Amino acid sequence: MVERIPTGVPGFDKLIENGLPKGSITLISGTPGTGKSILCSQIAFNNALKGKKVLYLNLEQNEGRLEAQMLQFAWDPEKVKNNLKIVSVDSSDSQIVEYILSEIKKLNYDLIILDSLDSISSTQFPSDKTDSLGMQKIAESVIPTIFDAPTIGRLKLKKIFTAIAKSKATALLTSERVENGVGLSRDTISEFLCDGIITLTYSSVAGGANRTFEIRKMRLTDFSQGIMPMELNSKGISVTSLEEEKL
Ligand SMILES: Nc1ncnc2c1ncn2[C@@H]1O[C@H](COP(=O)(O)OP(=O)(O)O)[C@@H](O)[C@H]1O
Ligand SMILES: [Mg+2]
Repeated sequence: MVERIPTGVPGFDKLIENGLPKGSITLISGTPGTGKSILCSQIAFNNALKGKKVLYLNLEQNEGRLEAQMLQFAWDPEKVKNNLKIVSVDSSDSQIVEYILSEIKKLNYDLIILDSLDSISSTQFPSDKTDSLGMQKIAESVIPTIFDAPTIGRLKLKKIFTAIAKSKATALLTSERVENGVGLSRDTISEFLCDGIITLTYSSVAGGANRTFEIRKMRLTDFSQGIMPMELNSKGISVTSLEEEKL
């Protein structure tokens, strides 16, 4: 039996055999504004409320913004502060990988959220020749054509994936999909490193928005396939199955 971590997102868990496989790493991919951070906050809050230890590594929004957005949905971070640790990481810090690794190792977390991966894979430090892996200096002097910036970005990602896997926590990672771009993540490699992939879409229609999600892959899980509608309102994200809609 695979142990599961329910997301608590209404309508979603029954699509994935009642929860994310414990210890799995899932990528949430979508263009800007599709609800990646809201989905992560919702799952983080729900799990913290149930006593799970949750780490939310916020690489995207300034300190306090994520907390403010959560409050809008009545997910008060103060209420779960003993179980939910939100760390705002400065993505311009050249020691970003070490910092993230040290946070991951601080506690045996049940759930780790990293929002988003893009800040790691795409950040470059032109003035800092000794990057976190010590690779850049070697690369420039020995084999400059192999260790280019995208390669260094991928090596950093690999380090983080390894640390998360070692921690045995269940993880959600977000990546911004480039509109009409290649791949499901910006770095185009994370989708191969993850156990699961959920894509979110947004399109404007007359009188409102049309939001969908699709479970593209989820290891050890018999999941519902295809593009499904989702709702985003003041209560957060919920999923209405097509059968229910017809009722
Ligand atoms: N209270 C709300 N009700 C409905 N939609 C909202 C609400 N608050 C934010 N949104 C929508 O959520 C979107 C932002 O979601 P977010 O998770 O930050 O996106 P992403 O992380 O994918 O860029 C906004 O574009 C807005 O349309
Ligand atoms: Mg976001």
